[in-house]
Amino acid sequence: MLSVSSSQVCLQVLKGKVVSPPPIWLMRQAGRYLPEYREIRKRVPRFLDLCFNPTLAAEVTIQPLRRFDLDAAIIFSDILVVPHALGQRVEFVEGEGPRLDPLATAADLGKLDRVKTETLLSPVYEAIERVRAELAPQIALIGFCGAPWTVATYMVGGGSSKDHARTRLWAYRDPASFQRLIDLLVDISAEYLLGQVQAGANVLQIFDSWAGSLPEDEFARWCIAPTKAIVWRVKAQAPHIPVIGFPRGCGVLAETYAKATGVDAVSCDTSMELAWIRDTLQNLVAVQGNLDPLLLLAGGRHLEERAREIRSALSSGPFIFNLGHGIQPETPIAHVERLLHLVKTGEA
Ligand code: CP3
Repeated sequence: MLSVSSSQVCLQVLKGKVVSPPPIWLMRQAGRYLPEYREIRKRVPRFLDLCFNPTLAAEVTIQPLRRFDLDAAIIFSDILVVPHALGQRVEFVEGEGPRLDPLATAADLGKLDRVKTETLLSPVYEAIERVRAELAPQIALIGFCGAPWTVATYMVGGGSSKDHARTRLWAYRDPASFQRLIDLLVDISAEYLLGQVQAGANVLQIFDSWAGSLPEDEFARWCIAPTKAIVWRVKAQAPHIPVIGFPRGCGVLAETYAKATGVDAVSCDTSMELAWIRDTLQNLVAVQGNLDPLLLLAGGRHLEERAREIRSALSSGPFIFNLGHGIQPETPIAHVERLLHLVKTGEA
């Protein structure tokens, strides 16, 4: 284990080292912008069937690593495998996104069943084992889950929604029952992350994509506290595994998040000011980010200038180059190649 990990630049950064040029990986690096992904996806009509097919999920995880000089692989799966494993119906509708049978009242919490979660999630562990066996030792393998708040917005909202009104209203009207849902998600997510570590993941990321929809007090209760609980549970059993948090859209509250949760790194969204990241966040934890995925799609001089700005602002501390959110399906492969070149040669 030590020999696998000690050569990994991502791991060195996550332990606080300054590495130049910085390591790089891209959120949603496996996916629809790659023709070889679309090819496999055509053969598997149901998205979750792809997530739960260890051979294909492993293949899709490795695809971007064959093309690009990336420093990490992220296991191909989705944050919504957790509600699925709890017995909630989850579908991915072409052109629309996820659709779930929403939890409407506190009584619906009784329908969630954790008995089969371990079995239902085991194909993800098998995919991780396969990826680790194939991956070069210097490449980090990232396991992940959604943060309880973000996963809850899908479970209660029934899919993607702009303002997460149903979920926020539940949390305001009946915090006690909402807490039960969050506690359940903390429990399952911690077990799930530890299962991924046991299978061979050696970095973890917690995606809180909708953290930005909560005011300060609710952010503390529904984002920080559950993330902290997961981090502590994971660290109790796997103290050597770094955890990256992605509290998207939370602005300056990321400082409290970094201090309180115990994460080793914060993944920064596109709206965070570089000087603030450097002077505040990077003094507390390693940072990752924060190129706008639409700028990567657009390409050209503006992309190159911004990549350079990010690199020069954040390179004096522990830093992993990444996007501020997931790569867009329309992104030209040549733009990804260009970015990798810029970062790897130090031109960025
Ligand atoms: O990063 C990777 O390459 C690993 C794979 C990964 C996926 N989803 C695959 C996926 C990861 C890390 C995720 C995380 C995820 N899933 C998040 C958090 C990160 C973020 O983007 O905010 C969220 C909120 C989801 C939920 C989800 N899954 C939505 C809203 C959608 C529909 C929108 C979309 O991008 O299509 C998905 C589907 C999904 N997850 C796809 C992929 C490759 C597209 C499915 C397809 O092939 O049709």
